Amino acid sequence: MNIHTYEKVWIVASMVLIVGFIATITYGAVGPGIAMIDDDGGDINPDKINDDERFAEPGVEHVGGNEYEVTVVAQAWSYTPSEIEIPANSEVTFYVTSRDVTHSFSVVGTNVNTMVVPGQVSEMTAKFDEPDEYGILCNEYCGEFHHTMEGKLNVVP
Ligand code: CUA
Repeated sequence: MNIHTYEKVWIVASMVLIVGFIATITYGAVGPGIAMIDDDGGDINPDKINDDERFAEPGVEHVGGNEYEVTVVAQAWSYTPSEIEIPANSEVTFYVTSRDVTHSFSVVGTNVNTMVVPGQVSEMTAKFDEPDEYGILCNEYCGEFHHTMEGKLNVVP
């Protein structure tokens, strides 16, 4: 191989990478487990969240067996509750809504990643097998302190 052949190989390789990235972004949103289209948990009046059965006291509820429901209210610039604790080997359904503007609820390192729109409830289910600690981040720009909006998910033994 001479130098030109190497160059060609690298050009092709980088083009494959670029196409790969675009494909990931385009098709990632409809891939398995990523809840962008199938996360409709119904409507809610954002002014009456405190009167809503599910969201008046957001948090973790054991619904039987290894199943848990977690309700979360997003608002600028925090989540309520800010820290979630669930046991390992559990199946968790998250219900998340917003009190004000559009946020996201993204559990870093998992497929739980959804927009949180005022007036709507985002719903998604995920399994947590091993004890671990996950950060929760807001991926939608929501104002001055967007970058400080975070939470924690602890999967405990
Ligand atoms: Cu909430 Cu960005």
